Amino acid sequence: MVLTEKGARFELLEPDKQTKLLLSVSPCKNDTVRILIDEPQPIKARYRVPDVITGEPQCEQLRVERQSEDSVTLSWSSGRHRLCVWRFPFRLEILCEDEVMLHDEHGGLLWKETFRQFVDIKASGPSSIGADLCLHGFSHVYGLPEHADGLQLRDTRDGDPYRLYNLDVFAYDLYSRLGLYGSVPLLVAHKADRTLGVFWLNASETFVNDGQTPPVKRKRVEPQTDVHWLSESGVIDCMVLLGPGPQQLFTQYGQLTGYQALPPLFALGYHQCRWNYDDEADVKAVDAGFDRHDIPYDVIWLDIEHTDGKRYFTWDSALFPEPAGLQRHLEKKKRKLVVITDPHIKVDPDWSLCREARDGGHLVKNREGHIYKGSCWPGESYYLDFSSPDTRAWYSRCFGLDKYKGSTPSLFVWNDMNEPSVFDGPEQTMPKDAVHCGGWEHRELHNLYGFYQHMATAEGLITRSGGSERPFVLSRSFFAGSQRLGAVWTGDNVASWEYLSISIPMLLSLSVTGIAFCGADVGGFVQDPEPELLVRWYQAAALQPFFRGHSAKWTKRREPWLFGEKVTAAIRTVIQERYCLLPYWYTLFHLAHTSGLPPLRPLWVEFPGEQSTFTVDNQYMIGGALLARPVTDPHVQEVKVLLPGSGEVWYDVHSTKAHKGGQTLSLPVPVFQRGGSVVCRSTGSGSCTAEQQQLPLSITVALNSLGAADGELYLDDGHSFSYRDRKAFCLRRFSINLIQIILYNELFALPSSNIKTSPSTCTFSLSPGAKDSSPAFEYTETCCRLTVNHLELPVAMDWEIQIQEG
Ligand code: GLC
Repeated sequence: MVLTEKGARFELLEPDKQTKLLLSVSPCKNDTVRILIDEPQPIKARYRVPDVITGEPQCEQLRVERQSEDSVTLSWSSGRHRLCVWRFPFRLEILCEDEVMLHDEHGGLLWKETFRQFVDIKASGPSSIGADLCLHGFSHVYGLPEHADGLQLRDTRDGDPYRLYNLDVFAYDLYSRLGLYGSVPLLVAHKADRTLGVFWLNASETFVNDGQTPPVKRKRVEPQTDVHWLSESGVIDCMVLLGPGPQQLFTQYGQLTGYQALPPLFALGYHQCRWNYDDEADVKAVDAGFDRHDIPYDVIWLDIEHTDGKRYFTWDSALFPEPAGLQRHLEKKKRKLVVITDPHIKVDPDWSLCREARDGGHLVKNREGHIYKGSCWPGESYYLDFSSPDTRAWYSRCFGLDKYKGSTPSLFVWNDMNEPSVFDGPEQTMPKDAVHCGGWEHRELHNLYGFYQHMATAEGLITRSGGSERPFVLSRSFFAGSQRLGAVWTGDNVASWEYLSISIPMLLSLSVTGIAFCGADVGGFVQDPEPELLVRWYQAAALQPFFRGHSAKWTKRREPWLFGEKVTAAIRTVIQERYCLLPYWYTLFHLAHTSGLPPLRPLWVEFPGEQSTFTVDNQYMIGGALLARPVTDPHVQEVKVLLPGSGEVWYDVHSTKAHKGGQTLSLPVPVFQRGGSVVCRSTGSGSCTAEQQQLPLSITVALNSLGAADGELYLDDGHSFSYRDRKAFCLRRFSINLIQIILYNELFALPSSNIKTSPSTCTFSLSPGAKDSSPAFEYTETCCRLTVNHLELPVAMDWEIQIQEG
């Protein structure tokens, strides 16, 4: 063992195969431990995933505590954590109050594999790597998206392992552990007093097996989860995030892979998409439809048919003769256009962009060294090699306003088919032996392909504005770190109740693994939703981060006003409510951007000590204040909702009626505000976010059992980087303390509401400097609600309100 500033280094000799391995263990600042295993003399250097970790984690100095022939015990910093390393057989333990064990397995695969007609020659020899981890005391594990499955990872001993391999799967099967469009190799384990993460930084095809052993109370045996990771190639680069709580874990993960990009405000509004909006007249008619029906929205989207023969960055001149004019038409109403830009390039030597890509060496090659060709929407296509920094820089420049003809600053981008999808490739993707820059085979970086396209696109939009404007890019494929680049969605789902249900755990899995700006196609992409399903889907998605209606080419039109006034009204209500809640959503995104805490949270994130929340995945928290339980079944009048926390008070946001925590209720569409919180809303929705931004705010205070509440509000210009570069933002904290003893008493007379007095008059004293206004109040006895209007207080100033009865 050698101790360096970067941790401890060990040389391991595998007994059977005589393979030498180098292992280094580095405890890093902020309670993470990095374990790196590589071969000192490989046939070919092993791939180390670049660009995902945002900076080398800072190491802590290790000290030897004990050492013997067989083992060594090391400690660092505060001495709270220790590492124990056993030499024969090799085993590593991380000890907090508990222990995590890891031992390494370095195995081989075949030299040649055949899948249907595809033969994969492993030119660098077999290269798989794997490791076993035992998570002591844990029986609930989450993460490892993307799978159309529940939030909690299931025991894989009776079936397939979880597979992380980005694939284009149309109308994907539910409850399958095969790969979908994106991968985040982060597993999160949780128990009442600790949350732990294992981040496996490897971009090749990866399998994860997990097995839970329940506790044996009689023998005082703790539960445990065994996790086996296996990747096709690369090195073992494994980071253990020690929490101790969910919030610290999100921050640790954010410090490693970056925080959620702060979206421009418009991107949190409602998006209207369809494959395809046919032409300029169609786009204008749909846009006008939103105004006619008084439904706010911000963005209309164009799918592949807007291009000239699926040549991205071009326009079909018959259908879209005046694209810049169309954007200006939308921009007058402060609305945006998003267009699709896929990673394949139509093979067409007459097209300048294709020539540039070819001549600039920006294309993936096959193993014979020729340019790789596969088939996608345009027919025969080349594939851009986004793993090359030069290619990314060139691609970014393609978004320049001078280069992308017909584009204006209000055009934003959608990256699709970037797993990459290759219609005639193995499993509909690129062969693993295709070759990228630096001579790396596609197998090494397959799961990074979409991440890199997303990166180049986001960079392109930033550069287009001279670095001043925030980009918005939606990507179908993703990897760890994609949160820094924009939003993702869950691909080609189906218009059925099952897909509506599964969208909730899918979005929660993405959220706990850093991908906070996520959504599912509202209504289901494939097939036609019945109106009831469509309305339920809008109700659910209005309370999720990325909110976009989208549908496939062969489905019937489904703009919100096509199903009769009742449906239109129901959809209008939820979209308007979404817009009113945007100040809260935006504040949550600020939090995700600065601390890693996702806006959408499984209940256990907010109630880490409550066992009853660990398996809940049909309801969730929006930030720390709101709890939602969307309706995901047909023909139901009420659904059950768990209100966690026996000491909590929960206020139904529709009726404002208070309920005690620690019970399950049945209600029509449950949305609750947690006692102790403050939620800022806009007093109206406006017709788009830019209008909503101009409206006065309202503050909803929900007192807890101590009569207190607090909350935050973040505001900035909603579109530029001034918040970052010039600190041009406003972050306000609202604290309410025992403002109304009467209300507090009454609240706790629940449920019989034994109200003794009700304020018949109130006097308000406002702090000096506040605009002279005459606040009016209204008191609703039945739910102990006091509403104060016309306060006209400036949000950026400090103020105090004192309310006294009489
Ligand atoms: C893929 C996308 C879908 C898009 C279609 C056409 O199926 O997932 O959203 O509409 O391609 O571009």
